[in-house]
Amino acid sequence: LADKSSNVVWHEHRIAKSQRAGQKSQRPAVLWFTGLSGAGKSSVANALEQALFQRGHHSYLLDGDNVRHGLNRDLGFTDEDRVENIRRIGEVARLMADAGLVVLSAFISPFRADRAMVRELMEPGEFVEIHVHASLETCESRDPKGLYAKARAGTIRHFTGIDSPYEAPEHPEVVLDTEKHSVEECVDLLLDYLRGRQILV
Ligand code: PPS
Repeated sequence: LADKSSNVVWHEHRIAKSQRAGQKSQRPAVLWFTGLSGAGKSSVANALEQALFQRGHHSYLLDGDNVRHGLNRDLGFTDEDRVENIRRIGEVARLMADAGLVVLSAFISPFRADRAMVRELMEPGEFVEIHVHASLETCESRDPKGLYAKARAGTIRHFTGIDSPYEAPEHPEVVLDTEKHSVEECVDLLLDYLRGRQILV
């Protein structure tokens, strides 16, 4: 994208984001869930957000419901649109981390380069890539929305894993195998990880 804002000047803010995070006993972070449709991204991210809320943390979950129906309603599923989808979500996540939140993002985000680009937007240590993994066969057998069946039948084009690629993370901070672990186990694993990284105190 062309940068049309070369004459826009940055202002130093007087409130640091650590201050915005306030008394919440948390460090701002972006928890970036990536994985195939049906792997369990939304289920785990929703359950984690509930667990964070119950412990008094301040978080926000970005997912298809609030992004693809709003900010990104003009985008579809071509490679180009997915790149733009993730770019915008990355910028929103950055603003939210700046506001002091623990941001959870649950999108397929199939391209390595885009996830790397989002990582670069954040401060060192702020971006946590979480690969929610289940095999294509498993995701296809779960098929919660019936979309794999439609993709196989050719009524949906560019479906991830079928006729559009998914580039699995090479060095994610966390891998969750949802074939072996329940949603609750994944949440416990993540809570432990986030405490270990002192994102949650
Ligand atoms: S992406 O690749 O990150 O831009 O995708 P995302 O914004 O996460 O949207 C994925 C959800 O949209 C539904 N859907 C499709 N997914 C993949 N490919 C195609 N062609 C497609 N068309 C619709 C699908 O329900 C995805 O939801 P999840 O929650 O991943 O199952």
